[in-house]
Amino acid sequence: MDLTVIDHPLAKVRLSVMREAGTGNAAFRAALDDLTMMLVYEAVRGTPLRTERIRTPLVETDGYRLAQPPLLVPVLRAGLGMADRAHQLIPEAQMGFVGLARDEETLRPEPYMESLPGDLSGQPVFVLDPMLATGGSMEYTVGLLAARGAEEITVVCALAAPEGVERLRASDLPARVVTASVDERLDDAGFIVPGLGDAGDRQYGPR
Ligand code: PRP
Repeated sequence: MDLTVIDHPLAKVRLSVMREAGTGNAAFRAALDDLTMMLVYEAVRGTPLRTERIRTPLVETDGYRLAQPPLLVPVLRAGLGMADRAHQLIPEAQMGFVGLARDEETLRPEPYMESLPGDLSGQPVFVLDPMLATGGSMEYTVGLLAARGAEEITVVCALAAPEGVERLRASDLPARVVTASVDERLDDAGFIVPGLGDAGDRQYGPR
């Protein structure tokens, strides 16, 4: 499985703001929004373009569009904080939604919402979720997308645990990961260490 860790000073700075325990909800959301721009920029790299003739005020020249914009799929709640910026960067993208809450005792994802196109064959997909911890939520989400025919799935996350990356790799699902950090480990409660706590709670408050 392809894993891209973006290595950029501004990504490190924004991620540090998110990690700091003293960062409030609004500042956390702003840093995630900025980091999403960098992650999506990287996730789109190499995507095929369609060439078309356009007119500048002076002459005709080649212009470009994404040949096939990805379907954007934020995983609620925390992924909502990445949705707007991703959509601003790819305004022609359609959007689907998946709602999951991880049971903090079993660490299993509990699905509560799903709004996706029925047929995703030939459709690239970007899944947006700030955190890949045990990988259970992402394995479930990527599985849903693959069951609808998606074969080109990019998991866009702010940070990941090695355990989550390994779980996706072992699943053999058609996914690649773009992240700003693969952290050290998971703790016994399933939290990423050093991590940033719970990205949903830090944006929206505890549930
Ligand atoms: C967090 C996070 C992921 C999931 C990661 O969401 O945003 O969706 O946990 O954990 P996993 O890799 O071990 O499955 P959470 O379930 O806390 O819900 P929330 O976004 O509503 O806060």
